[in-house]
Amino acid sequence: MQKILVQGGIRLDGEVRISGAKNAVLPILCATLLADSPVCITNVPRLHDVLTTAKLLAGLGAGVEHAGDVMTVDPRSVNSHVAPYELVKTMRASVLVLGPLLAKHGVAEVSLPGGCAIGSRPVDLHIKGLQALGADITVDHGFIKARSNGRLKGARHVFELVSVGATENVLMAAALAEGTSVLENAAMEPEIVDLANCLNAMGANISGAGSSRIVIEGVPHLSGCTHAVIADRIETGTFLVAAAMTGGRVTVTHARPGTLDAVLDKLRETGADIAIEGDRITLDMHGKRPQAVNLTTAPHPAFPTDMQAQFMALDCVAEGVGVINETIFENRFMHVNELLRLGADIRVDGHTAVVRGVAKLSGAPVMATDLRASASLILAGLVADGDTVIDRIYHLDRGYENIEAKLGALGARIRRVD
Ligand code: EPZ
Repeated sequence: MQKILVQGGIRLDGEVRISGAKNAVLPILCATLLADSPVCITNVPRLHDVLTTAKLLAGLGAGVEHAGDVMTVDPRSVNSHVAPYELVKTMRASVLVLGPLLAKHGVAEVSLPGGCAIGSRPVDLHIKGLQALGADITVDHGFIKARSNGRLKGARHVFELVSVGATENVLMAAALAEGTSVLENAAMEPEIVDLANCLNAMGANISGAGSSRIVIEGVPHLSGCTHAVIADRIETGTFLVAAAMTGGRVTVTHARPGTLDAVLDKLRETGADIAIEGDRITLDMHGKRPQAVNLTTAPHPAFPTDMQAQFMALDCVAEGVGVINETIFENRFMHVNELLRLGADIRVDGHTAVVRGVAKLSGAPVMATDLRASASLILAGLVADGDTVIDRIYHLDRGYENIEAKLGALGARIRRVD
């Protein structure tokens, strides 16, 4: 099993290119199943979850070509409507084929995605939303079995809770439904805007994506298109936090500054200077130690839960005390125990962590438990005294393209070891 070795103490300096967004490309690849002809997706990040999704689409019979950062999916040869447990258990985003298969083929069987390290991750909101469009859905023997008698019917649906995945599944299904759908209390993440833009390029008629009210006029057919995936706002935030923690100066390029305002505001609170110029964001810490920040995670445009672990790592070495509230997932403090091994001072009380900044962390062997927790351990290793070895880094490869090469280009002493 591969590990990553980080030797702390280097101030990061330089430029890094941001890849396409994992949480945009996964639903967009599933949306290709809605089309009557091949769909070409560009700026596709090289991530394990992308390879898993490609395998899932190929398993359904679609033609999938993947060269560099371009993936072309030909849905015309789809001949199966079953997403198997073997794949779904490795990536719960596989559930996003449910809406497209149902809308296009009238039938879908998707293994119930299990929970994961950060929570039970139910899919009840996905199911209720699709039932609102007329789907007949049962769940038994670990499978979600969905079918529709003829075309789905447009409807007004209010999501009980804001859910990114449920919004995406229902949005994709509504695109081919008969009549108008209105989705209320919809998630507003930039990845949903990107999905809607791709669907509209395929011939859909969607307005309001990015707001809590999305209106979809269903169309009978969707065609292929070429769509470039937006930049990954969480990768962007992760590199900027690395710059702030090490007191360095980093410019991220090919980014989408407008998609991470809450993160940039928090970084300014740590004392960082931030300059924005088109698709470039430069964070300069001028060698200073960051000030601790308080944060509460919440749906977009508020502070993203996917940046919580990274900011906890920053608070571990900041001046002062930071209070972190995680409101989205019930178990997203798995990185705390590993940060404590590095000498951090963190006290957890339910969904709240109180982090008292220490002058120095000390390197040690630690274990990644989930994607963003592994990122926070790398960040802590960048500033810890001595060597930090992070195990189970397959979590990391799910969501970060070549992170050690990108950090190495900024001066970090980081490499994979067996
Ligand atoms: C997406 O997950 C992202 N994943 C997550 O990123 C992200 O943390 C999350 O949105 C929140 O922003 C992808 O886009 C592939 P939700 P998703 O449905 O859609 C509850 C990362 O690190 N809920 O918005 O699964 C759920 O348990 C990953 O890149 C239900 O109760 O998140 C959670 O408490 C981690 N019933 C809350 O809603 C449902 O049917 C928000 O979940 C669905 C969700």
